[in-house]
Amino acid sequence: MLSRIVLIFTAILFMAACQLEKKEIIFPKTDLSKTALIPKPLKTVSTNSAFGLSKNTVIYTSSTDSNFEQVGQFLLEKVKLKTDLDIAINTSNSEESIDRFIYINQSDSVDLKTPESYQLYIKKDSIFLNAKTAAGAFRGIQTLRQLIPEKSNDTLTDHPLWLIPTGKILDEPKFEYRGAMLDVARHFFTVEEVKKYMDILAYYKYNVLHLHLSDDQGWRIEIKSWPKLTQIGGATEVGGGTGGYYTQDDYTELVEYAAQRHITIIPEIDMPGHTNAASLSYPILNGNGKKVKAYTGTRVGFSTFDARKDTVYSFLDDVIREVASLSPGPYFHIGGDESHVTKKRDYIHFVEKVEKIVQKHGKQMMGWNEIAQGNISASTVTQLWNEPHNALKAAKNGSKIVLSPGEKTYLDMKYDSLSKFGLDWAGLIPVDVAYKWNPETYVEGLSIESILGIEAPLWSETISNSEELEYLAFPRAIGYAELGWSTSENCNWEDYRERLVRQVPFLNRMNVNYYPTKLVDWE
Ligand code: ACM
Repeated sequence: MLSRIVLIFTAILFMAACQLEKKEIIFPKTDLSKTALIPKPLKTVSTNSAFGLSKNTVIYTSSTDSNFEQVGQFLLEKVKLKTDLDIAINTSNSEESIDRFIYINQSDSVDLKTPESYQLYIKKDSIFLNAKTAAGAFRGIQTLRQLIPEKSNDTLTDHPLWLIPTGKILDEPKFEYRGAMLDVARHFFTVEEVKKYMDILAYYKYNVLHLHLSDDQGWRIEIKSWPKLTQIGGATEVGGGTGGYYTQDDYTELVEYAAQRHITIIPEIDMPGHTNAASLSYPILNGNGKKVKAYTGTRVGFSTFDARKDTVYSFLDDVIREVASLSPGPYFHIGGDESHVTKKRDYIHFVEKVEKIVQKHGKQMMGWNEIAQGNISASTVTQLWNEPHNALKAAKNGSKIVLSPGEKTYLDMKYDSLSKFGLDWAGLIPVDVAYKWNPETYVEGLSIESILGIEAPLWSETISNSEELEYLAFPRAIGYAELGWSTSENCNWEDYRERLVRQVPFLNRMNVNYYPTKLVDWE
């Protein structure tokens, strides 16, 4: 720790001395406030000069928390991808070759109000990124990545410089929960496909990936105590394909990949409805009175667990225990939507019993808005998709609400009548409609304090690979990132659409098959 501080101090002194000898570089004028940052930061002040990122830039990180070094490492890798520069981190090599540095600093400043808040001070010779936690530093790194220009300036010095505009950025999220949901049950998505989705979400400061791991058409997570769930239930998907599933090792790989991006994975096992694949694997669980057959269509609401059978609850105790033990995040999502063939009193009995199992395994329950029909705890999170009255009921009881209104946030709704993929039961959602709404006022009577955040679900009845996923998710998911992070005063469609078009180089570099909506002027 001390040696790191001495090192940085020496580097600063050395550089100051060198600056005296070096010819002053006259940077072209830049304006930090005109950069195309998404989500838009809380406050930006420009000082109209530039920091020249070059092969001689070094990243230093606080040694008080080893996660800060990981954040620095992440930045280093992304700098390499964008600029092909091999810059050093926490080096004690001769300072002669260092001309500028980026210091990622753990700070206790009271101005850092949330764990994800960060401050970025960009000067000609140094960039200081302050954050209380590695998560905050990670969010700040995304801003820095977005500030690195696509092209270097090769005329100012004998080596290329990537000019980052100087000034300061003070930033923090509006909501603590900024999520995307991926339905890997209707169609299966591989570990690599899910990782690619997370890479793009992380760039826009998402912090939750909710995985819809089971539905009528497939069961996607290995449960060691009930192996037929994946042997039988994992082998089907919409349209008759071969399905697939995550082994517990695969799932852990996703959880770790997410954690490196300060993203929490929320597992969802949907129940008591949406359970045909589970009941196909173990018919004893079935409660709809019919013989269970494999289902590869797209209807909903026909399946249910038997809410009055003890075996169902011992099964769920095993499933929730195994999945919860692999999931470091605070939440376990029980679905709970569209249980149309479960009697109402059985449904309520079920939700209340399952909530206790979830809590026994150390998690807070989360569920779609139907769960608020039960007498649920204040610690349970309700996800609004179609029934504001149930969200309001839950909020009155002290529950926090995640907003995913179908008509605004469902990424599987078509953009327009020409959309190649998607459904339209909640309406068409063009890119401007997806952006132009205010989560803080969307549900009349729901106080801001009750809103945990927003989430954009992507159901996969009509998509089955990354290319199709990206067509529906992008660019809309970029807009939800801003609605979840930036103050409502900072969310302005005309301003946003200008910044959106400037995401193209990133989207192209990431090989993202975004939908080129006619509502913005793609260059
Ligand atoms: C849902 O769309 N059934 C939550």
